[in-house]
Amino acid sequence: MPATELNKHIHTASPAVFALLSELGKRIYLPKGILSQTAAANAQAVRFNATRAIALEDGEMMHLDVSRALVPAPSLEDIYGYAPVLGQPVLRQKWAAHLRETNPSLAKATFSLPIVTSGMTHGLSLLAELFVESGDTLILPDKIWGNYRLIFETKAQAKIETYPFYDAQRRFNVHGFRETLIKGGARCKRARSAGSTRVLLNFPHNPTGYAITRAEAQEIVNTIVESAGAGNHLLVMLDDAYVGFWYDASVMHESLFGMLAGCHPNVVPVKIDGATKEEYAWGMRVGFLTFALDSAVMQPLEQKISGLIRANTSGAAQIAQTLILAAMNAPGYAEQKRHNSETLKARALKVKQIASDARYATLWEVYPSHAGYFTCLRLKSGNAEAVRQKLLAEHGIGTIALGESELRIAYSCLEVSEVEEMFAAIAAVLNSG
Ligand SMILES: Cc1ncc(COP(=O)(O)O)c(C=O)c1O
Repeated sequence: MPATELNKHIHTASPAVFALLSELGKRIYLPKGILSQTAAANAQAVRFNATRAIALEDGEMMHLDVSRALVPAPSLEDIYGYAPVLGQPVLRQKWAAHLRETNPSLAKATFSLPIVTSGMTHGLSLLAELFVESGDTLILPDKIWGNYRLIFETKAQAKIETYPFYDAQRRFNVHGFRETLIKGGARCKRARSAGSTRVLLNFPHNPTGYAITRAEAQEIVNTIVESAGAGNHLLVMLDDAYVGFWYDASVMHESLFGMLAGCHPNVVPVKIDGATKEEYAWGMRVGFLTFALDSAVMQPLEQKISGLIRANTSGAAQIAQTLILAAMNAPGYAEQKRHNSETLKARALKVKQIASDARYATLWEVYPSHAGYFTCLRLKSGNAEAVRQKLLAEHGIGTIALGESELRIAYSCLEVSEVEEMFAAIAAVLNSG
């Protein structure tokens, strides 16, 4: 279907989605080309099928035995064949079932079949292409995963507006978020993107490990609904990289996605998650994009996303999708995930105990952390980058310096027995001036 037709369908089914599209988002479509001719031949070419840009031998996929020997179990097609542009249908269904199982609030919600991306970064990048025009505002907290700036600011030329992540009580700063969103919504009305705003939220949070309570989640949803009720169209992107890694009973153990789904027709919630952290498969590059939208708008939107994927990666790696799906269906899967998660939880609890010990109180403040991979320290003296360099040079310890005074520690990479030494070394560096 040409772009003009897709745009018409999107406009009819969801004026909010249409209002949020970038110029590229409006232009993009999936041309009727090799893919549709191949699909027709797959159904009808009973004699010879000379459409696919692959090589066959004796009716099987031609391959190298040296590579096949490394992955002997899956079918040749499931390793070497091209995956569909939007991902393997069975994997997409499996991830949808996984979302339902792990998000009680999604029980009655409408959401799309997850679209497979080449890792979560690709999913975020696709959203930037589809929904961000140069000069559009993106609302982010001041503490973020740095790649957002590269994707949305440097590449898509969004104007980033930030609010302090924590309030004075070191809770998520719903008030600051509200101020920025309501002010942003009003200003956007005067700009090109009449009445549209883009928001990106990430819980469990990188770099602090903060996770929201259900009450905080409700306040965030209320704020978004308030802005939507004033006529603002909102794209709400949820970076759910670390969902599932909750170590504290006081925080909400599901994504905000379920509470946002269907909250207001002007709100377009999209969940970006993946096998990256959840399935311990960082380099496999399997992510998912899931929209809380119905099929009337998803059909044309999927064609646009197919066009974008076709024009950049042309699809995520088949073998990675095959391995993720096979693992999720394997008998030991749930037990092995539980084991890994308990291992990480033991580290998180040890870090909490050691890092917040009274002996370090003059040296740093530990930001509240309930989930994920990280803890983040606010150093009370010294420069974070200088501390990082000294830790590396004098103790052989690697950390991440953020801004002037913050140090991020990925305890996901530390054994419980290594935690004491880690914080003692940071203290030694700080005490040595
Ligand atoms: C918050 C957050 N989002 C996304 C990602 C990246 O995901 P991927 O490796 O699938 O691109 C990371 C990785 O560190 C992350 O911390």
